[in-house]
Amino acid sequence: MEKIIVTGSCGFIGFNFIKSLNENYEIIGIDSINNAYDPKLKELRLEELKKISNFKYLKIDLSEKNEIQNNKKTLSESSTIFHLAARAGVRQSYLEPNKYIRDNTTASVNVASMAKELKINNVILASTSSIYGDTGNTFATENKDELNEPPSIYAATKSFGETLIKNVLSGDDQKIKIGRFFTVYGPYGRPDMSILRFIHWISTDQEVIIYGDGNQRRSFTYVEDIINGLNKLKNYEESDTFNFGSDITWSLIEIISKIETLLGKKANLVFKERAFRDVDVVLPNLNKSKENLDWQPRIDIDEGLNRTIDWYKNNENYLKNIKFKYKYEK
Ligand code: UGA
Repeated sequence: MEKIIVTGSCGFIGFNFIKSLNENYEIIGIDSINNAYDPKLKELRLEELKKISNFKYLKIDLSEKNEIQNNKKTLSESSTIFHLAARAGVRQSYLEPNKYIRDNTTASVNVASMAKELKINNVILASTSSIYGDTGNTFATENKDELNEPPSIYAATKSFGETLIKNVLSGDDQKIKIGRFFTVYGPYGRPDMSILRFIHWISTDQEVIIYGDGNQRRSFTYVEDIINGLNKLKNYEESDTFNFGSDITWSLIEIISKIETLLGKKANLVFKERAFRDVDVVLPNLNKSKENLDWQPRIDIDEGLNRTIDWYKNNENYLKNIKFKYKYEK
């Protein structure tokens, strides 16, 4: 049976990815279950994963090299490592920069070093559209020239993480494939991100906080499309970098209006100061992903929101106890 490693197994994308895999894989999931956001949601995901018979969970902090070394035997003879673990979130990165440096750079070097030592030749890294910054009316292409000045601490650490992993693995037989994901949403999503918060706040009659005027636009991408992208990367034979996003952008106001319709409830909007260095529009160029990987987004926003709301309703009781706000948010 083919063995694969998924880091960030209890995170939003890692969890959904593992759930989508068939029984032909032996899956080693790694997660530290840290408190970057409410760990209860990560524990809920882990409970789900434990139901998969060929899934094994390792609680490892990837920034601690010795924790990886202690588990070498379990990790060896894997074909592929999906390095999906990260400290994510643009706004919080200004508050805890050292944690972002540790989790997105040191941890990535440790993962790459492990891949090298254990001769795991297929390395897939989850990266972010945040490194492009505001794309205005242009489409972000994967060219590295655009990344001279990452627009946030989060973006800087993810961009540097990409560079470090590529350098650790350069000159070896290993292939490193990078997916840059654009504002992913869906079931079991992150409670700090806009769409899940808006669904939660409208459902529970709480104030819907909008940072700025709500006209900022994102290329919201449904998690199933990202999972398809990860599978495409696994099978791609060369080292390369690809965008995975939607080529249609939506503003926060438009998204909220759709959620209101789907829930049959009105949102109580509260406008607050725009987040520091927040960007107006993020839009991907998808030509390379379409041509080289035959990938394109398939789930449109209405379908994606519908599915996310269905999931929310089915788990409402549990989700009521999850913290959606950070300590710095009033
Ligand atoms: C998101 C994720 O947080 C990153 O982890 C990811 O890497 C990135 O997308 C990406 O696609 O590359 P962000 O654009 O901040 O970054 O996504 P959201 O958290 O969904 O925020 C979108 C917009 O909604 C921002 O302008 C934010 O200020 C706003 N927002 C968010 C609110 O107005 N209210 C909230 O409660 C949350």
